[in-house]
Amino acid sequence: MIIMLYYEKRKEDLFSSHGHHMIRKPRGTADILPEEAATWQYIEAKAREVACRYGFGEIRVPTFEVTELFSRGVGDTTDVVQKEMYTFTDREGRSLTLRPEGTASVARALIENGRCSDPMPLKLFYIINCFRYEKPQAGRSREFYQFGCEMYGASSPAADANIIAMASAFIRELGIENVTLHINSIGCPECRPAYREALKNYFKEHEAELCDTCRQRLESNPLRILDCKSPVCSEIAKDAPKSIDHLCPDCDAHMKSLTAQLDAMGIDYVIDTNIVRGLDYYTRTVFEFICPVIGAQSTICGGGRYDGLMKELGGPELPGIGFAMGLSRLILAMNECSKTITANNSPELYIAPMGDAAVTKASAICEGLRREGIKAESDLVGRSLKAQMKYADKIGAHYTLILGDSELESGVAQLKDMTNSTQREVRIDEIAAELTK
Ligand code: HAM
Repeated sequence: MIIMLYYEKRKEDLFSSHGHHMIRKPRGTADILPEEAATWQYIEAKAREVACRYGFGEIRVPTFEVTELFSRGVGDTTDVVQKEMYTFTDREGRSLTLRPEGTASVARALIENGRCSDPMPLKLFYIINCFRYEKPQAGRSREFYQFGCEMYGASSPAADANIIAMASAFIRELGIENVTLHINSIGCPECRPAYREALKNYFKEHEAELCDTCRQRLESNPLRILDCKSPVCSEIAKDAPKSIDHLCPDCDAHMKSLTAQLDAMGIDYVIDTNIVRGLDYYTRTVFEFICPVIGAQSTICGGGRYDGLMKELGGPELPGIGFAMGLSRLILAMNECSKTITANNSPELYIAPMGDAAVTKASAICEGLRREGIKAESDLVGRSLKAQMKYADKIGAHYTLILGDSELESGVAQLKDMTNSTQREVRIDEIAAELTK
């Protein structure tokens, strides 16, 4: 124990050896270093490829928006808006918020850019960072990344089935197994009032036990109590009336058609009446892909239909459906399935120069090779020849080439293949051709 404390102290001393204390990243954020970035790049490339195959185009929206976009879009009785937003006032006194999600921004962007009269459906995807002030734990952070897709202008159950099929394909193609698709219907403005009343009556009986926020929600939005993270409220919510028992005939038919289409597509699902989603804009279909092996934060993908969102944000009446996935949760799930992506940044050639003239020549050769698309490195830190060879081995160079005065003079050098320790004589000017043959 004492030794450990001593070690920790030593570490701090080392870090603060310049007289400044070390600055740490804010709680709930992460640094992604090159080895790990390889997995992120893989997922992002896959997301772009799958989205493109399913006919979605990329949209990039601002990192911050006026706060009202989220209070109106996501809903001001949601946990996200009430407790989790990073809201600040800018120098002109405007209230701005770091986006907690992407759906509201995409809706705003489509309205603002006059895209709502384009041929339907509109299909957009995004890969963005989002910010929520939540308690950090495995799979939950304050800055996180989402791959999301949104489709506008199609109210058919076929649209729901297409969106769900795409999410499912993406997860499958990442090699993630042990995932279950949970679907539910939370109704529409037609059937919502009766359901709301039923919920209100149920929660009224437990009013004294509810948390302060939920007691207020009892009047303003009892549906939100179903999504409260407090242990007591979620326990009470377990026996609450189910939305699926209060659907109007249209919502009921929509759900039946969707499940029939999923069946036809060979996509497995369970109907889970506990899926309510934490955002206000949802209507009818809601769904989550759940991967229990990654822990408590096991929802790797959440989505649903939001037929009233556009109108709510001042746009035309345009139905929508979409989903978003947390990239860090996808990585946890991939790890659980032993699906690992390794970074490979090993150079094709490492040039070991000896002497000033050779250093200059090595840099010039390197630059020439790089311009031709060949990965090459040479010494930049003045290592001894022995240390250079060790370094070349460490970074996994395929070939090495030692350049000294005699090589510069003769124009020929020994190209060593590190994989089998054989070497051959090459003309220095023809090195690119030698490496590609
Ligand atoms: P959401 O359920 O709030 O939905 O988030 C979607 C996904 O983002 C979650 O399932 C989870 O994988 C990931 N996620 C959420 N919060 C965190 C966090 N604090 N740390 C790590 N990952 C997190 C939405 O955001 C909707 N906009 C989805 C949508 C798009 N619905 C329709 N279109």
